[in-house]
Amino acid sequence: MPDGGLETSSVTRDGFEPRIVAFFCNWCTYTAADLAGTSRMKYAPNARVIRVMCSGRVDPQFVLDAFARGADGVLIGGCHPGDCHYQEGNYKTLRRVHLLRRVLREMGIEEERLRLEWISASEGDRLRTAVNQFTEQLRTLGPLSVEAPAEALTETAPVAAEEVAA
Ligand code: FES
Repeated sequence: MPDGGLETSSVTRDGFEPRIVAFFCNWCTYTAADLAGTSRMKYAPNARVIRVMCSGRVDPQFVLDAFARGADGVLIGGCHPGDCHYQEGNYKTLRRVHLLRRVLREMGIEEERLRLEWISASEGDRLRTAVNQFTEQLRTLGPLSVEAPAEALTETAPVAAEEVAA
């Protein structure tokens, strides 16, 4: 996370700490994360941030690959509806997330592991809340355990991603 989040809670009793891959839009959520960091807001350090130029740039394959490579949750942060710098990128994201959740269910992955948030550049506090809530939610869900082995998920992901992108 830009400038690093400050840890807010300790490891759960069984030692599980969720790994979150966070795709943040450069124009809004990434800047909000930067603001939260420079404002010394405390939030869970579980998210590894990947900056994208628009939430619509998050290919479904990126999300499925993240799960296949060991993420317990994926967080996508984009501009509020109507504020996307590329007009309709976030509407595309919204449609994709709905479809991706269906694909995840079919793969035996809880759909709650994929979260979408609209967070503007000035909403550092909202960013903090989203990361903390998602981390807590994933702690409750526990580590990702898929019915199919990771290799099978890796093989399935490209096909599923194509279906969602179509
Ligand atoms: S530019 Fe931020 S979601 Fe499109």
